[in-house]
Amino acid sequence: MSALPNSRLVEPLAGRQRVALIGQGYVGLTLAMRAVEVGHSVVGFDVDEERVKRLAAGESQVGDIEPARITDALASGRYLPTSRVDDCALFEVAVIAVPTPLRDGMPDLSHIESAARSLARHVRAGSTVILESTTYPGTTEEMLVPILELGSGLAAGVDVSVGYSPERIDPGNTTWTLTNTPKVVSGFDDRSLEAVKAFYDTLVERTVVVASTKEAELTKLLENTFRHVNVALVNELAMFADDLDIDVWSAIDAASTKPFGFMRFEPGPGVGGHCLPIDPTYLAWRAKSRLGRPFRFVELANDVNEHMPDYVVRRLSASFNADRRVLNGSRVLLLGVSYKRNTGDASETPAVEIARQLHQMGVDVRAADPHVPPRWADPVLTMVDLTRDEVSSAEAVVVVTDHDDFDYDLVRKHARYVLDTRHRLDGPRVEQL
Ligand SMILES: NC(=O)c1ccc[n+]([C@@H]2O[C@H](COP(=O)([O-])OP(=O)(O)OC[C@H]3O[C@@H](n4cnc5c(N)ncnc54)[C@H](O)[C@@H]3O)[C@@H](O)[C@H]2O)c1
Repeated sequence: MSALPNSRLVEPLAGRQRVALIGQGYVGLTLAMRAVEVGHSVVGFDVDEERVKRLAAGESQVGDIEPARITDALASGRYLPTSRVDDCALFEVAVIAVPTPLRDGMPDLSHIESAARSLARHVRAGSTVILESTTYPGTTEEMLVPILELGSGLAAGVDVSVGYSPERIDPGNTTWTLTNTPKVVSGFDDRSLEAVKAFYDTLVERTVVVASTKEAELTKLLENTFRHVNVALVNELAMFADDLDIDVWSAIDAASTKPFGFMRFEPGPGVGGHCLPIDPTYLAWRAKSRLGRPFRFVELANDVNEHMPDYVVRRLSASFNADRRVLNGSRVLLLGVSYKRNTGDASETPAVEIARQLHQMGVDVRAADPHVPPRWADPVLTMVDLTRDEVSSAEAVVVVTDHDDFDYDLVRKHARYVLDTRHRLDGPRVEQL
């Protein structure tokens, strides 16, 4: 193992490269681990010093990455987590995987901007820079390229390769992983595309080439908007079906037997994470700001999905009312806080909105979720363990996230009433969304 000049890293294996991964969150860390495993030398740069310290100590903050993968990567000498951007010097390929949130309902690209600025001074002739963050079509060409060119004095497509490759990681999915999920790749020009494709061909089983960075950016937003709209469709259907006294879940089961032309989506308490509540809005914003036209499907889907927590609270309130009980002064136990089954990610979770509304009505809101890290907390709910005592002393249990490892028998046996938003339980005291 020979050391890289002026670096704490060792040389990559033969045929592999020196990679800088900007952002060591869910996407960046997953890519970093894979890159080290196939022989690249990786600097994992993150502005969050605490996160970097934990990574350097072999601690994983990403549910799907076992700590052993991090300690193995560190032991190989080819993984360096750091909060010093100068450690990225000498990179051959850089991948930017930083957050793209909304601010006041509009795309906030400040993280991409600052990542690109930090990187630009280390860009050299022959370098490749790839954006992975989800963003509206045009970002790579119109924002990333000018920042890199200005900061490096080099020209994209001439001296430097630039590309976009959207991430398709699905947290908690053990069947479709980074390696076996086809990866869309694109380049600013033909040479860039070649460099981008060659890099990802070392990481994944199959790359899918598209004609431009804009097309790749749109591909990602199409995938997420498709899910967002279809989830909204079944959510709205669930509300109608309940009023019409029809079992929507049976109808979905029956429709799912059609071998073509139908894809199963399920209703729920609302959407969370990044893909559904945020990404489609990037596309709608671009259509509106460029063309002056609303993207009506996205607006409608946002409207339906954002109001699902209200609907859950309304259903709970109606069932209390039917029994001449009041929510005020009662105790409600939420089962699951994360936005997605078997994961610990509570970002944008509908559980918080449900808890907030119940809290305002004078409810003592408690929540059990073994997947959410203990340091996660929200002022409107008290985190508890799922025990017989917690279940039986709550007037209602609301299944928000149906993690596989919950003891549903315990809930079935001891709950006084269950509102199940995920169709996980059955029994005389269980009501489905
Ligand atoms: N998590 C997913 O499942 C998923 C899937 C597909 C796409 N994406 C997209 O990938 C991007 C990253 O998402 P994520 O889930 O990894 O986010 P994350 O919040 O888990 O991690 C992002 C990391 O970037 C760091 N960071 C922010 N600004 C930085 C800067 N200027 N320089 C260096 N580091 C910086 C943050 O400290 C954080 O650790 C987003 O655009 C997201 O929409 C995420």
